Amino acid sequence: MAKVEKNFSTMERSSTLFNILEVDGIPLPVLSKEMWNKISNFQARPDDLFLVTYPKSGTTWMQEILDMIKNDGDVEKCKRVNTLERYPFLEVKFPHKEKPDLEIALEMSSPRLIKTHLPSHLIPPSIWKENCKIIYVARNAKDCLVSFYHFHRMASLLPDPQNFEEFYEKFMSGKVLFGSWFDHVKGWWAAKDTHQILYLFYEDIKKNPKHEIHKVLEFLEKTLSDDIINRIVHHTSFDVMKYNPMANQTAVPSYILNHSISKFMRKGMPGDWKNHFTVTMNENFDKYYEKRMTGATLTFCTEI
Ligand code: A3P
Repeated sequence: MAKVEKNFSTMERSSTLFNILEVDGIPLPVLSKEMWNKISNFQARPDDLFLVTYPKSGTTWMQEILDMIKNDGDVEKCKRVNTLERYPFLEVKFPHKEKPDLEIALEMSSPRLIKTHLPSHLIPPSIWKENCKIIYVARNAKDCLVSFYHFHRMASLLPDPQNFEEFYEKFMSGKVLFGSWFDHVKGWWAAKDTHQILYLFYEDIKKNPKHEIHKVLEFLEKTLSDDIINRIVHHTSFDVMKYNPMANQTAVPSYILNHSISKFMRKGMPGDWKNHFTVTMNENFDKYYEKRMTGATLTFCTEI
């Protein structure tokens, strides 16, 4: 049984729009214990597709790819409404929406695509029971950290990151929303051996998007023409998504995401960590990484 407790002391800032609840020691943006109960008891359907990521790993990018696949490459259909409104985010209640996304999901017709950042051990058990397909996208820790830091600066939903040095320490010790990156990527990596999980890497999608889209199509048992696949690659490229108001999060109210502080579509490149880490930070990070990832068969690339 997951241990649930409120934790405002370490993470609150006056403008934080999320309530944060610790579940099994992991800070989650969950409104209340009652809401956590609803999340754990969420009833999945066998034809649900779950998109799971640690924050800042390319979730929005994969959502756009999946929407394009679902709509057979119809760009206009994918521009019907912004990403946050297109697909529910299982554990979140956004301040500009009337109800939690979970309730929106309950009312949706099948097949549903649902996003979550939950670690594998906190996922609603019905997802395993119904043997739902899951796409997991992982991104190297250093770029995730940098992207998460800038996201904290612009997202008033989240606690104030203070400065990069402090955020770096919190990230390494897993004292950030959704917990430790290390546990998240390893937990889902292990889960893929016993469940229907397609485990992808941000850096691979960046290197060869067409190849990774083919993997997604195969996993979803869908075929599309080469022309459509090329259109998906183009429409979901960083340079195109950056100027698409339905994908770049500029349609989200500015009191939630403040693009004048930092853009949501910021760099979109592996290797930006080099512009943020000092030599010492990098050495310490590598040492800690080695310790936490020993024995893991999971390898990441930190630049391309
Ligand atoms: P950066 O902050 O490094 O630029 P998420 O959607 O999980 O919150 O991830 C956001 C990160 O993915 C941001 O990283 C964003 O720029 C990047 N991203 C979004 N769309 C992308 C795309 N089409 N290509 C590459 N990166 C993308």
